[in-house]
Amino acid sequence: MKQINVGIIGTGWCGGIRANTCSSNPLVKDLHIAEIKIDRLEEVKQLTNPVTATTDYHELLKNDDIDAFFISATPEDIHYPMAKDCMEAGKHVFLEKPLSLTLKEADHLVELAETNDVKFTIGYSQRFNPKFAYLKKCLSDGTIGNPVAGLVSRHITRGLGHKIGGRIKLSPAAMEATHDLDFLLWCLEPAKPIRVYSQSAYGVMKDVTGLEDAQWSIVTLDNGVIITIGSGWTMPPGHPNYSGTWIEFTGTEGMLVMDDTHRDVVLNTMKNGIRLPMSTMPGEQVEHVFAGPMHDEGVHFLEAVALNRSVMVTPKQARQVMEVYMAADLSVERNEPVNLPLNNNDRSSIRVPKK
Ligand SMILES: NC(=O)c1ccc[n+]([C@@H]2O[C@H](COP(=O)([O-])OP(=O)(O)OC[C@H]3O[C@@H](n4cnc5c(N)ncnc54)[C@H](O)[C@@H]3O)[C@@H](O)[C@H]2O)c1
Repeated sequence: MKQINVGIIGTGWCGGIRANTCSSNPLVKDLHIAEIKIDRLEEVKQLTNPVTATTDYHELLKNDDIDAFFISATPEDIHYPMAKDCMEAGKHVFLEKPLSLTLKEADHLVELAETNDVKFTIGYSQRFNPKFAYLKKCLSDGTIGNPVAGLVSRHITRGLGHKIGGRIKLSPAAMEATHDLDFLLWCLEPAKPIRVYSQSAYGVMKDVTGLEDAQWSIVTLDNGVIITIGSGWTMPPGHPNYSGTWIEFTGTEGMLVMDDTHRDVVLNTMKNGIRLPMSTMPGEQVEHVFAGPMHDEGVHFLEAVALNRSVMVTPKQARQVMEVYMAADLSVERNEPVNLPLNNNDRSSIRVPKK
């Protein structure tokens, strides 16, 4: 069996899961980790037994034996330089969303992957959620007929809203709805998005992060299908890092309604009150299994590299998603629908998000 050597850059929440996936996978020979927080580096080192544990990821880039990298570092403005560094060093790359902060950077990364002939994919983990996969199946095999209209409503806790908005000023569409946009656009291929109308609302987040609490976008595709995607990060703490999703999809022959709000397991303790375990977006390790999509997503990338298979999320698809959420943000700003693809005037009026 061909084994590969893998590096993880940034071993926080998601990077910790990536390291855990790699350390227990027989396709991975050596694991190497880079993390600037010494305590976290030490913690993940104890859990995953890497060959190298460093605070400087450039050290890993110099190691010719490393085949592939997971880039899970924040804030999001470092995604582009890190992915660029890795691909220029000839490494395969798994990059957590977002792909980059500007379309110019995104185009450069798409091009780099092609010219350097490396595998490059983006962490749209909901594609590995079995419930989401079931919707994809119902659309692909015609169970609900031809697609007509879809809706996804996703809410996460304000704790996560603070965490995300505290490090970069990206909208709910860019940081949350992005997963659902990716998923529905993938399901509906080869149809292409042609128009977006989006509105956002302020609530408690404005004083804390300066960002909106919620954003809703209607996207029209060139085959007439409409998708409505809502996202918010204002839920009271409840279960830490909770993410709940409700989906409705109508077709000419049926309708699928999907509850992914994780109300099926309720834990009530004197210490913490009511909690909803296994309700985070990436998922979590539970004894001998992983409850959630992120572990399978990591394995898929390892298999793509080790067995020379295609990645599921292509960089071009991720770039398309990016263009749609940028158009949604422009629509909010202008208070009018925005056509896709974006023209040069639209592209030049998009502001680069600040930290
Ligand atoms: N797919 C999903 O379900 C999902 C869920 C949450 C977050 N995300 C994405 O994953 C990314 C990571 O999110 P997170 O919640 O794990 O963030 P996090 O803040 O918990 O972890 C990021 C880590 O990167 C480290 N870091 C920063 N600069 C570094 C550098 N130069 N070298 C090495 N390490 C460095 C930080 O110290 C931190 O520990 C984000 O971009 C986010 O958009 C995806």
